Amino acid sequence: MTSASSASSASKLTKAAPFHPSSEQDEWWRSGVIYQVYPRSFADANGDGIGDMKGIASRLEYLRGIGVDAVWISPFYPSPQKDAGYDVSDYCDVEPMFGNLRDADDLIERAHELGLKVIFDLVPNHTSDQHPWFQRALAAEPGSYERDWYIFRDIDPENPDTPPNNWESVFGNSAWSKTPNEDQWYLHLFDSSQPDLNWNKQAVREAFLDILRFWLDRGVDGFRVDVAHGLVKADGLPDAKMTTREMAGDGMATQTSPYWDQDGVHEIYPEWRKLLDTYPGDRAMVAEAWVEPYSRIARYVRPNEFHQAFNFSFLDAPWDASFLAKCIRETYEANDIVGAPATWVLSNHDVIRPATRLALDPKHLVSQLAEAVPEPDPVVGAHRARAASTLMLGLPGSGYLYQGEELGLPEVLDLDDASREDPIFIRTAGERLGRDGCRVPIPWVKDAPSYGFGKNDNSWLPQPECFGDIAVDQQEGDPNSALELYRTLLRVRRERGLGSGSLDFIEPAELTASADDSIADDSGLLIFDVSSEAGTTRVVLNTGTTPWRIPDNARVLVSSWPGVTDSVLTDCAVWLALD
Ligand code: NOJ
Repeated sequence: MTSASSASSASKLTKAAPFHPSSEQDEWWRSGVIYQVYPRSFADANGDGIGDMKGIASRLEYLRGIGVDAVWISPFYPSPQKDAGYDVSDYCDVEPMFGNLRDADDLIERAHELGLKVIFDLVPNHTSDQHPWFQRALAAEPGSYERDWYIFRDIDPENPDTPPNNWESVFGNSAWSKTPNEDQWYLHLFDSSQPDLNWNKQAVREAFLDILRFWLDRGVDGFRVDVAHGLVKADGLPDAKMTTREMAGDGMATQTSPYWDQDGVHEIYPEWRKLLDTYPGDRAMVAEAWVEPYSRIARYVRPNEFHQAFNFSFLDAPWDASFLAKCIRETYEANDIVGAPATWVLSNHDVIRPATRLALDPKHLVSQLAEAVPEPDPVVGAHRARAASTLMLGLPGSGYLYQGEELGLPEVLDLDDASREDPIFIRTAGERLGRDGCRVPIPWVKDAPSYGFGKNDNSWLPQPECFGDIAVDQQEGDPNSALELYRTLLRVRRERGLGSGSLDFIEPAELTASADDSIADDSGLLIFDVSSEAGTTRVVLNTGTTPWRIPDNARVLVSSWPGVTDSVLTDCAVWLALD
């Protein structure tokens, strides 16, 4: 008997206490699937080559049709677009290029008609240097009330070119720049056009409560909070022991850094939570906090803070079943203590798309490509991306999808330098490629200008030819396509109550008939059962090389790759009904 065939016996299961016990609470964000729209690149209604609010509204039915519960829209506020809208110059309006306030209202209304929640993106760590608050600060004297809204420091006359400390911008080079008239330094953890606000100032805190109110009053269902772990800096701004680059290479920021994950950030969010709770209808906040270990990220989702925090350890995980199992286990262990759902994510506008990333050599598994890399095998990438999503959407908790993930879009690696707009590329003089490759406009229709993104062939980033065959219209109705897989996953996830189920890990050895045949821990198998009122669903992922035979008493509900009937092969995942 081969280990694969012996693995078919499901009769000897012993269960420990399940993770993520089904709770009495049924707020939508505990189990909902949220689709991220990146406005510049989603749909261009006015034909200027840049996506817009009307374009998004026109595609909401498509999103409803996929089966997501909510839409998160990346920043669309007035902005000089130095960091694609994460440099906000007015938090309470819409960038004319994207539309106007009326369009935002219409978008919220249409989404609600379709039963979709809407989450907007709030950027509280920094403003644009064009924001009136910063302009007012520059116009005022050093030491003034106006300057105190940001983090200014004096220039040392003895060492005029030495910044106040060694902090580095996430986008490369020093985190300090001089004011235009060179009277002081100001801090910017990102681009020099994105000065950091001073969150020790009560007026800043009050201003953001007003901004939250502004959008809550217009009916928004919640906020994704940018750089939620960065707002408070260590007293005295001491030198960092590690460079930003070293931390990024290592995976995640930790509280050993003087500007990430300071305890003080947890004094800010309870006030926001209190405000959200005064509004009807389960308004929710999700933290973008690249923080480890799991116990630290769980602090952001304590009952009086955020509702969700992205699990970036999962996104960053190598393609390895035992590593993924450890990540899942530790996530639930940490979140179950505070009663928060896990928030799974594989992709967003800052990271290499999974269909490319998961086929890259692990040394390239960093959030932004550090160098040009050889084109990874697209077939391996496609298999793994589909398997990873099948794993993710089988996990209890909530999940986030990034536009184009459902089409299996690859990262566009060969953009020419002149097209690139990411400040990472610009600040590092091309040493780091940056994130444009995951931001290329979406292909909707194969035989149309800009593949149906807009009316004209002028998309702000050029689309590669391979986008034609994977456009939405080519995938719709094809049962073997990535798009139809996602639709099926979301439908079955809902029917089987997976998002609100509880999870038991199954050790591969528990499924073997005898010790001799047992599959070792490095089997490449990750197996768990999700129990809900709808029954038990077994999720199996195989990252190893030995096929796993599907037991006779199990029915295949969904498989990540077409044609799976009796064995789960390498880079494949399935959902099985055991009832
Ligand atoms: C995180 C956002 O996701 C990213 O796109 C942006 O550049 C930085 N925060 C700065 O706002």
